[in-house]
Amino acid sequence: MLENINQTKQEFTNELQNTHDLQQLEQLRIKFLARSGRIGGLFEGMKTAAPADRPMLGKALNELRQYAQLHYDAKKADLEQAQKPKEIPFDLTLPGRMKNVGTKHPVIQVMEEIKRIFISMGFSVENGPEIESDYYNFEALNFAPDHPARDMQDTIFIADKILLRTHTSPVQIRVMEKQKPPVRAIMPGWSYRNEAVSARSLVAFHQVEGLYVDKGVTFSELKGTLVAFAKQFYGSSIKYRFRPSYFPFTEPSAEMDITCYLCGGKGCRICKYSGWLEVLGSGMVHPHVFKAVGYDPENYTGYAFGMGIERTALLRYGIDDIRILYENDVRFLKQF
Ligand code: DAH
Repeated sequence: MLENINQTKQEFTNELQNTHDLQQLEQLRIKFLARSGRIGGLFEGMKTAAPADRPMLGKALNELRQYAQLHYDAKKADLEQAQKPKEIPFDLTLPGRMKNVGTKHPVIQVMEEIKRIFISMGFSVENGPEIESDYYNFEALNFAPDHPARDMQDTIFIADKILLRTHTSPVQIRVMEKQKPPVRAIMPGWSYRNEAVSARSLVAFHQVEGLYVDKGVTFSELKGTLVAFAKQFYGSSIKYRFRPSYFPFTEPSAEMDITCYLCGGKGCRICKYSGWLEVLGSGMVHPHVFKAVGYDPENYTGYAFGMGIERTALLRYGIDDIRILYENDVRFLKQF
């Protein structure tokens, strides 16, 4: 009898393994688990077993029945699951969700375009530190010791003679220190000034510096390059002019103006009724600057220029308040 029980278990196990659908499984159930099935039959057989063997046989039979039921249930669950149509975890008929695609910040766009134009004219791009010493920011650039820009009022100092650069011009010095002429580079980056924020000025803003040094560089090359730039950047139909100016690190110095984008030169609130807007400062590199970096001013000449990127963005897009660039209002930024 015990042998019979073991054999039934073996058969049940084998047949269960060969069961691949619910119909086969139902037949298996009838064959083994139904009242009149094989296991039921074994329970019947108990009646004729020797009374002494009954407890042992009863235990083995109960174990067999449990084993068969458990494995039958598990198989049934598996087969039912496999039969169910795969559920799609989302509703294909729902309308799509719109993604808000960001855009490059207008200041970065302007910066990239300025770079692109100067790179196409043979300039390289250089960088320098935003934390500078008095030497690079002022002294090497020929600022007199009592120049007002050196005042706490205008410059953000970090420690004695250590400051946040007030312009990108110190990068000129660093580039010339590490490189012999010819030098043809632009130097974009952050600049900082201790100023009240207003429609026209920020504490942190960007500038791009330009420098060209070689034998025999002339002021007319300065004009030619900057006019070529302005026509590419602002459009070929703009009018421009160069106005004498003063910077400690250039001599002579000039500022470049273009016709006002708003009034076209007639005079309005934006251009303070002059018809012109200043776009950059420039000049021929001062001999004192060459001496500071060890270039011989008898042998080399050069020109330099600098412009504010945010200011350039205002002129390019016709915006009249510089602060709006950094308010991060998506309705504004989306337009670029
Ligand atoms: N560094 C000047 C400024 O912050 C801009 C400038 C003017 C740069 C003339 C130059 C230059 O290289 O030649 O206003």
